[in-house]
Amino acid sequence: MCGIVGYTGDKRAAPFLLGGLEKLEYRGYDSAGVALSEEGNFQLLRRAGRVTQLKTPLEKLNSAAVTGIAHTRWATHGPPTEENAHPHLSEKKQWVVVHNGIIENAEELRRELADVKFKSETDTEVIPHLLEKQGEINPVEALVNTQKRLEGAWALGILCAAMPDTLFCACKGSPLLVGVGAGGTYLASDYAAFDEDVTTTYRLCDGEIGVLTKNTVCFYNCDGDIIDKSGEKFSWKEQRIDKGDYEHFMRSEIDQQPLALRQTLAQFFTDGAFSLSCELPEKPRKIWLIACGSAYHACVTGKYVIEELAKIPCETAVASEFRYCYPLIGDSDLAVFVSQSGETADTLAAVREANANGAVSVGIVNVPGSAIARECRIILPTKAGTEVAVATTKAYCAQLAVLYSLALHYVTDSKQKNAFQQALRRLPEDVQQVLDTTEKPAMDMAREIYEAEHAYFIGRNLDFSTVLEGSLKLKEISYLHSEAYPAGELKHGTISLVEEGTPVIALACCERLLPKTLANIREVMARGAAVFAVTTLDDIEDARGVITIRKTHPLVMPSLAVVPLQLLSYHVARLRGCDIDKPRNLAKSVTVE
Ligand code: AGP
Repeated sequence: MCGIVGYTGDKRAAPFLLGGLEKLEYRGYDSAGVALSEEGNFQLLRRAGRVTQLKTPLEKLNSAAVTGIAHTRWATHGPPTEENAHPHLSEKKQWVVVHNGIIENAEELRRELADVKFKSETDTEVIPHLLEKQGEINPVEALVNTQKRLEGAWALGILCAAMPDTLFCACKGSPLLVGVGAGGTYLASDYAAFDEDVTTTYRLCDGEIGVLTKNTVCFYNCDGDIIDKSGEKFSWKEQRIDKGDYEHFMRSEIDQQPLALRQTLAQFFTDGAFSLSCELPEKPRKIWLIACGSAYHACVTGKYVIEELAKIPCETAVASEFRYCYPLIGDSDLAVFVSQSGETADTLAAVREANANGAVSVGIVNVPGSAIARECRIILPTKAGTEVAVATTKAYCAQLAVLYSLALHYVTDSKQKNAFQQALRRLPEDVQQVLDTTEKPAMDMAREIYEAEHAYFIGRNLDFSTVLEGSLKLKEISYLHSEAYPAGELKHGTISLVEEGTPVIALACCERLLPKTLANIREVMARGAAVFAVTTLDDIEDARGVITIRKTHPLVMPSLAVVPLQLLSYHVARLRGCDIDKPRNLAKSVTVE
């Protein structure tokens, strides 16, 4: 949450800062701001709303500054106003700061800084004031002392008037990358923000400090001692994100699912032979599956599949709950953490909890080098490529593929193993076929439901875990209120909300439970519900709409069934005129608790 960029070099800073913010806007889009340094004078430009609000005023400013920092915000402390937008300046204008993270002891520090006139409600503003209170000491020393006063998480981009063309940075718990190119040095929350000039990158570790001039980078540990860090080669082409001819990233990412599956599964199949190539415990007592949001829904599917196939007891947990429920987890357990970004604060905290309890932690992560990827003992990567739309699609589909592969690793019955392995290898083509055949019916269905106020999703077993995801997709991008229930559960209360014409989206793909699901469908129809079904059946009597999908191995059906649900959400959101890639109030990386 929140994106930061910085630059110092030979070029004008403003174009890189603006372009970088645009690429990081997925991290938050409540407000945006820039600080440019010209011989120790800071020029600040901040706006509530999207990064685009900065474009014209920044162009008008036509600043020749070659050093600057910038920020796009997801509001935590204080509403998304211009006053609360970053950068934040110290009273004597000696320090200016952009921040991603949360300063947990901000209230206490504000009390301590009683003589300071705060200009914002943010937690961040304590940082420039604390730096200024250090007096005229070496900026690195000021930063060492200030970091020691902070609690929580931070990635900081800092300018200091005493050293006008130097960029300072530091982090703890929030990602921060330094880039080096022929034209200068760069700072960013994510590789995506770097431009083609960057050839080498460095990832800051907790407590580290970076000092960047136009042609040098120097790193210090949390005590201010110089350290050696090895850089990594960077290829801008590989990081470039482009939605091609698509109107939205989400739609292009839905279509990239077969590729995401191919790339993810390829790592586990060598010459047709399956292996996870990692040191997993032979027979864990229990497998915990822990994540947030869609990644949690992938875990629910994972539990059904692992338990049925590998006969190992599984427990799913929402990461924000796991941490505070005194989990009975120990060294004979496997703890699997699923995260696209690898940054989700609650999931990361859960990793630490599991590690502290001796469990073997496994990260299913899409962003290599992310905090969760670094802290888990074993990594099973998803290879979905950069996902830009806030609503996840291709990363979710790759997460399912890794969870299936984990189940396959533990299955003992060779007949079952062969059948499942074959289904996995066919999965990219099967998903492609569903994509090719369900767009039009999903659009037709969207036309029927987009004006509704509420919708209910129902399904049993793996159909239930899939409707959890279908319902989240619909509400997060279209703002149409929806809830997902196990099909048999609706009549225990929620069915009282079903009236004439209420859309009920029923998933009927789980073959062994079809008669039960069909009975539940009839129950809601009898109360006037307009039933829209996604099913392997050719038709469902009296349904208002039916999307038929092909059959595959029952345990990988969720990967096929979720596709029409993604397309349905996309088209409903489009018909409702929503900002599909950047739904209100959300951000792609949730780095706060
Ligand atoms: C779903 O579309 C989401 N945007 C959200 O639920 C997401 O899956 C969740 O925040 C977890 O993120 P992560 O995978 O990056 O940890």
